[in-house]
Amino acid sequence: MAESMRGLKRTHRCTEVCDASLGDEVTVMGWVQKRRNLGGMIFIDLRDRTGILQIVFDENDCGAEYFAKAGTLRSEFVIAVVGTVEKRGGAVNPNLKTGEIEIRARQLRILSESETPPFPIEDGITTREELRLKYRYLDLRRPELQRNMMLRSRVAQLSRQFMAREGFIEIETPMLGKSTPEGARDYLVPSRIHPGTFYALPQSPQLFKQLLMVSGYDRYFQIVRCFRDEDLRADRQPDFTQMDMELSFVDEEDVMDVNERLLHYLFKEILDVEVGLPIRRMPWKEAMNRFGSDKPDLRFGIELHDLSDLVKDSGFGVFRNAVAAGGSVRAICVPGEGHMPRKQIDALTDMAKGIGAKGLSYIAVGCGENGANKCSFAKFVQPEEMDGILREMDARDGDLILIAADKNTVVFNVLGSLRLEMGRRLGLMKKDDFQFVWVTEFPQFEWSEEENRFVAMHHPFTMPMEEDLDKLESDPGSVRARAYDIVLNGNEIGGGSVRIHQDDIQERMFRALGFTDERAHEQFGFLLEAFKYGVPPHAGLAYGMDRLVMLMAGADTIRDVIAFPKAKDASDLMTDAPSPVEPKQLDELHIDVRRDEAKKH
Ligand code: AMO
Repeated sequence: MAESMRGLKRTHRCTEVCDASLGDEVTVMGWVQKRRNLGGMIFIDLRDRTGILQIVFDENDCGAEYFAKAGTLRSEFVIAVVGTVEKRGGAVNPNLKTGEIEIRARQLRILSESETPPFPIEDGITTREELRLKYRYLDLRRPELQRNMMLRSRVAQLSRQFMAREGFIEIETPMLGKSTPEGARDYLVPSRIHPGTFYALPQSPQLFKQLLMVSGYDRYFQIVRCFRDEDLRADRQPDFTQMDMELSFVDEEDVMDVNERLLHYLFKEILDVEVGLPIRRMPWKEAMNRFGSDKPDLRFGIELHDLSDLVKDSGFGVFRNAVAAGGSVRAICVPGEGHMPRKQIDALTDMAKGIGAKGLSYIAVGCGENGANKCSFAKFVQPEEMDGILREMDARDGDLILIAADKNTVVFNVLGSLRLEMGRRLGLMKKDDFQFVWVTEFPQFEWSEEENRFVAMHHPFTMPMEEDLDKLESDPGSVRARAYDIVLNGNEIGGGSVRIHQDDIQERMFRALGFTDERAHEQFGFLLEAFKYGVPPHAGLAYGMDRLVMLMAGADTIRDVIAFPKAKDASDLMTDAPSPVEPKQLDELHIDVRRDEAKKH
């Protein structure tokens, strides 16, 4: 039976009791973690968001009635206890903040009973994530997630303080808007008042923050929800949070400077980690060549080497043909993994094939019979060629060289992924080693096979590098952008760019992207119109706040730092969203759902 808390007032959270003096009377409230009966005494671990506190019921102190009631307590009951702070009679628990004290109870109220929860409320459980998401409110009671939520709150609070000190103004932008130029699919919201038309939920506040610069706000900041209808992964959610900013009368140096100081401040205050400033910078091309990725994990080496020149005339057709077709042959050398069983090498080959490779070649250095090399293409390779490869790879006996030959995009993708896989297996990706890098000089355009045209890699308002401007028409593929990503341990935690503020360059950009004047005006007319009325040079950046918090918390997925995340299929397993709606609601929105779709639910 649930009792009221009338007449009681909580004096301390569980671990705050440490601040009281021995002998003081306190009133504490929280959830029962566990109950133990020990010869005439009942011990309760009481839990709240600050931690655990031991309560002891001794019949001689609390009387028979409360003692009997304490005997009925079960996990997750919500209780109030009045008692005195004492030194622990029994064993001290050095793992708890309150490990040396306990509360000797005099009074007990059961404020709420609980059914047995579907999984234990404690750290390190192996419960299926689906079940955890269905009962998210219970999952959120676990200390691990509570720590994550509190860390997230600190990141938001400290960022706001820092940005305010730096002269940023917090301004909200609309959730119901028009589609923005980011690359993902929009979430659409039908309009009731304007039949047949739709709002789009923002993929980012990009256009609005640029308009705020036109309006003279100079430095804008917002912690803002964004929506993208993409395939989900561990670091992607359909609704996620950006820490978004835009600055006027600045270039990339100013943006990087303020962000380096912000990151330094957050890591120092929250984790007591010193971020080395300035954060190193790496042009996109170098990141791809050395790490096979535009978000290189710099916690370990195992860098890519280009073997194309060495093997362009190889007797091995796979190598020769890849180079002849304009692709490349590249490799990584994994120290000490040459003795990997054949089965595991086959598994790596399957992994490479899953990423688009036709195959994977390897050399297990000195791991064959009598110390010879074990090589998947031994039949076709001359000794000089083999020597050249081993020298280029700086390989030692016992190493494993993995070689990919294909189009450059495939080679980078495959070796970039294998590098991470090997780094993981070798334990080289330590969660408390924070390696930041700015990746700069991104290509302005990327070729879209689907659309058969160049599309903007960042967005169409990103300024090309001055020295590449004259190639905008003649060789768009080689134009580099004044765009930068901030990368932490192989994760893109943020990205931004200097924007175009000169209309002649903007026009050339639209032309290069294959936009007609009409289409440019249809999509971005309001921005182009605004730019006619005096636009300051401006630049900005947005963090994926969930990713930043995930890495700071040492979590494996952003779902663990979001209070109510979606499952991998974008559904909310707790509320059952998305769900069918009443026919009346659809009528009002002038929407017919195809019958075959509706039947599925
Ligand atoms: P961008 O598209 O790079 O840039 O997004 C900025 C950052 O947001 C994070 N992010 C995501 N996090 C979780 N789930 C997702 N689905 C998701 N998508 C992106 C990433 C990314 O670095 N308007 C520009 C910023 C600018 O130019 O100022 C923008 O949105 O960490």
